[in-house]
Amino acid sequence: MEEEAVGLGHGDEILWKSNIPPLLLLLIPILFSTIFILRSHLKKKNKPTFPLPPGPWKLPIIGNIHQLAAFSAGVPIHRRFADLAEQYGPIMHLKLGETSNVIISSPESAREFLRTHDQNFAARPYLPSADIIFYGSKDIAFCSEGDYWRQMRKILTMELLTDKRVKSFRPILEAEASKLMNLIGSEPGQDIFLAGGDTSPVTVEWAMSELMKNPEKMNKVQREVREMFDKRGKVVDDACFNELHYLKSVVKETFRLHPPVPLSIPREGRETVVINGCQIPAKTRIIVNSWAIGRNSSHWTQPDQFIPERFLNSSIDYKGNDFQLIPFGAGRRMCPGMNYGIFVVYLLLANLLYHFDWKLPNQIKPQDLDMSEDSGGTVPRKNNLYLNSIPYHAP
Ligand code: HEM
Repeated sequence: MEEEAVGLGHGDEILWKSNIPPLLLLLIPILFSTIFILRSHLKKKNKPTFPLPPGPWKLPIIGNIHQLAAFSAGVPIHRRFADLAEQYGPIMHLKLGETSNVIISSPESAREFLRTHDQNFAARPYLPSADIIFYGSKDIAFCSEGDYWRQMRKILTMELLTDKRVKSFRPILEAEASKLMNLIGSEPGQDIFLAGGDTSPVTVEWAMSELMKNPEKMNKVQREVREMFDKRGKVVDDACFNELHYLKSVVKETFRLHPPVPLSIPREGRETVVINGCQIPAKTRIIVNSWAIGRNSSHWTQPDQFIPERFLNSSIDYKGNDFQLIPFGAGRRMCPGMNYGIFVVYLLLANLLYHFDWKLPNQIKPQDLDMSEDSGGTVPRKNNLYLNSIPYHAP
C-alpha cells in the first residue's frame, strides 16, 4: 500500500493521494463500527442486569392508574396498595401516569430502603401541588434534601422541638386539655363527638374507637389510669405517663392498626441501586405503606385484632428502629415532631379516660361500631365517633 503527501505548506491542507480502492475505504468504517457494536453488546451481556420490582401490568400513558381507580371506589388507597402487594410482593413497582413508584409493604424492605439505603432515598420528589401551596416547596416536609432542608431540620430539632422546649409547652397544653374536660363535663350524658384532622387527635380518635369496640380493654386501661391519678391528687399529671404501661401499649397498638399517616410522604432515589435483586432507577418515588407493615402477618399474630397486651413484654417501639412499627417513618426524613405528637396523644387520652366513663349512643353494640377509614394524607375515621360521657367521681 503506497501513500504520498502531495502538499504541505503554510496554510495548506495535508492532502493524501491514496492507492486504496474506494470500496475498501468504505468497508473500513463499517468493519470498525461492527467491532464496536459487538464489543459493547458483549460487555452488556457480561454485566448483570436487574429487572424492575414486580408489579401489575401497565397501560401506555396511564400505567397502573386504572387498577387503582377501578377497584378502589370507596377503598382507601393504602388498603388497595396492600391488596396489590399481597399479589406482587413487598417491593412493588407501580407506574402512575408518568411517574415510576415503588411501594414498600414489609418491615424487611422498609429497613432496606430507610436504613441501608437511607442516604440515597432522603430526597423528596418535586410535587407541583407542594410547590404551589408551600411557595416553591419551601415546607420542610416537601423540600428536597440539601442545605435548606438541613438548616430547617436543625432549627426544628435543636430549637423548636427539643425535649426542653416541648416541656415548656406543657402548662399551656395541660390548661387546654383541662378546659376541654370541663366543657365535656358541663354537659354530661350529651353526645360528644371526637373528630380529628391532625395526627395527634386522629390517634386519640382511633384509640377511643378501638377501646369502645373492646370494652374489656377499656376497663383495663381506665383501671390503670385511675389507680395512678387517684393517688396523685386526682390530677392527670404527665410526670407519670411513663409508668402507665398499659396506656402506652394501647397507644402503640393504635399506631400499629391505625397509623395516622399510613402512606409516608414520598421519597426519591438519587442514584440507581439494586435492592433484593431488583433495580430501583434514580428518580423513582418510594412510598412506605406503614399501614400494611403494621398488619404484616409474618410479624404480628392476629394482625387485625386490637391486642395492646402484645406490647406489654416487648421492647418494640415506634421510634424508627423497629421496622414492624413505623408510624413516624424512619431514617433521615423521620418525623421530627414525634415527642411533641406523642405527648399530646397521652395527655388527651389520659384525661378522657380518667375523667369520664363512655357509652355508645342508640344502643349501638360495641361489635357493630363502624370503623371505616377516610382517605387522604392523614387518615381519620370516615364517620365521626359519637359518645355519651358520664363524669367519673374519684372515691
Ligand atoms: C401522632 C403524631 C404524628 C405522626 C404519626 C407523624 C407522622 C409523620 C410521618 C409518617 C412523616 C413522614 C416521615 C418519612 O418521610 O419517613 C412525618 C414527617 C414530618 N412530621 Fe410528623 N407526625 C406526627 C406529628 C408531628 C408534629 C406534632 C410535628 C411538628 C410539630 C410534625 C412534623 C413533621 C415534619 C416537619 C415532617 C417532615 C420531616 C422531613 O421531611 O424532614 N409531625 N410525620
